[in-house]
Amino acid sequence: MHRFKGSRRGLPRHRVRLVTFSSDYVFGGDKRSPYSEDDLPHPLQVYGITRLAGEHAALATAPEHAVVIRTCGLYGASGATSKGGNFVDGRVAEARAGKTIEMAMEQTVAPTSTDDLSKAVLALLLHPALTPGIYHLVNEGQCSWYELTMAIVQILGLSAKVIPVDRGGKTGAMRRPLYSVLDNRKARHLGVALPPWRDALERYLRRRYG
Ligand SMILES: NC(=O)c1ccc[n+]([C@@H]2O[C@H](COP(=O)([O-])OP(=O)(O)OC[C@H]3O[C@@H](n4cnc5c(N)ncnc54)[C@H](OP(=O)(O)O)[C@@H]3O)[C@@H](O)[C@H]2O)c1
Repeated sequence: MHRFKGSRRGLPRHRVRLVTFSSDYVFGGDKRSPYSEDDLPHPLQVYGITRLAGEHAALATAPEHAVVIRTCGLYGASGATSKGGNFVDGRVAEARAGKTIEMAMEQTVAPTSTDDLSKAVLALLLHPALTPGIYHLVNEGQCSWYELTMAIVQILGLSAKVIPVDRGGKTGAMRRPLYSVLDNRKARHLGVALPPWRDALERYLRRRYG
């Protein structure tokens, strides 16, 4: 819960917000243009269903307070606890170890820096006209996991071999959306903008591997 000082227009009666995070994987990937907050979710796997259930739980439990942030492809300084690190660091380690990297080229995403995301979340929460509901927050632009891996290798000047593969949107039995780019339309409308994904990636890599 984020508690706000003072009285601001648009804030709920008790001046608190319930902020929770959800995922691009609530969408099925049939579109080829960025998903807005109004697009109908259609999760393809249990993970997406649990994210959607969480959205509904938050919005139903605290309709005046809940702010649901949908985001995508996160990487940041502290890594993902459930995955033993983040995607970017994983590819850097593989490239440095001289491994050949096979990476999906059929899934299009908007990889997002947790540094930019956290700043955008804070800006959103402090906005006096913020209303409860769902907001998309991702770095601008889009790429495939293959293109993201190529960018990592290029920015750091690594000599790894990266091979594009088409796994038909599947990792084992798990179905993934072929397209899950999010449109930050509602946040942009409030003047909250995130930089392009490649700028964010360069900043992250220079800071971490300088
Ligand atoms: N990672 C991504 O690329 C990505 C993309 C889109 C959306 N998201 C969304 O972002 C959110 C966080 O994902 P993440 O990848 O950052 O996951 P994560 O690294 O696994 O972090 C999850 C966090 O939740 C805590 N947690 C898990 N179960 C809990 C419980 N029962 N009670 C209290 N805390 C609990 C974990 O605590 P411990 O550290 O103690 O285990 C951890 O700090 C999720 O809603 C996810 O859908 C993530």
